[in-house]
Amino acid sequence: MNKKWKKIDEYAQQWIKEAGRRIKDTFQQQLLIQTKSSRTDLVTNVDREIEQFFIQKIRSTFPQHRVLGEEGFGDSLAALEGIVWIIDPIDGTMNFIHQQRNFAISIGIYEDGIGMMGYIYDVVHDELYYAHKGAGAFLNGVPLSPLTETSVSESIVSINATWVTKNKRIDANVLAPLVKDARGTRSYGSAALEMAYVAAGRLDAYITMRLSPWDFAAGFVLVNEVGGIVTNLYGEPLNLLGENSVLVAKPRLHEEILNTYILK
Ligand code: IPD
Ligand code: CA
Ligand code: CA
Repeated sequence: MNKKWKKIDEYAQQWIKEAGRRIKDTFQQQLLIQTKSSRTDLVTNVDREIEQFFIQKIRSTFPQHRVLGEEGFGDSLAALEGIVWIIDPIDGTMNFIHQQRNFAISIGIYEDGIGMMGYIYDVVHDELYYAHKGAGAFLNGVPLSPLTETSVSESIVSINATWVTKNKRIDANVLAPLVKDARGTRSYGSAALEMAYVAAGRLDAYITMRLSPWDFAAGFVLVNEVGGIVTNLYGEPLNLLGENSVLVAKPRLHEEILNTYILK
């Protein structure tokens, strides 16, 4: 890693751990909970405070860098030139509110649109998933192994039951056969953690119909580093400035899911 990225990495890891401590400190406090686009789209005072914490640190240390943050305290970006931090201060806010677990801080750092660093921090389990483009992926400093090939019949697929019941985004019959054929299905309610689990081999695939850049920016770097594939549901590259369907999987499994279930 060159000097520039080493410095960025040192600060990023330090700030992420500090933010994790701040989140844990709120566990005994009363949360201020508000809805955004719908009754299931939640935000708390902690989501806002943590995003502001990162932005203040980034602006004072790296004034040239820009920030794309879920809660809107960052910059409004029309393009991704230069260094951009893509931040989800709490991914899995519903879990944070209801369970005080199964949520993560997710930060992807991109340069001219290329994913350079990915950090997903499972605060409660103190698990930091980290990747640097070309240098591999790690969990608490231990290298993650390259992903091996598998088939649908031997895989655990992460998918929310919404996508196999009547919904606005996909015909429920498209993914139902996949759910039936997989060895098992799971749903954790945090896109970042689900991508980290694919990178760590705990899940074989993750499928969802609508994610924003801050949900997948870090996971994208992480999964790429272990040889996994991240595309939209139709096998196309993700748009980093808009919403996407997302299919993350081990290499041959990605092809099998696309060809046998989605594009058939
Ligand atoms: C959400 C989570 C969830 C996914 C949603 C996201 P948030 O992020 O990642 O798993 O299904 O699409 O919006 O709102 O908790 O940061
Ligand atoms: Ca999110
Ligand atoms: Ca969030």
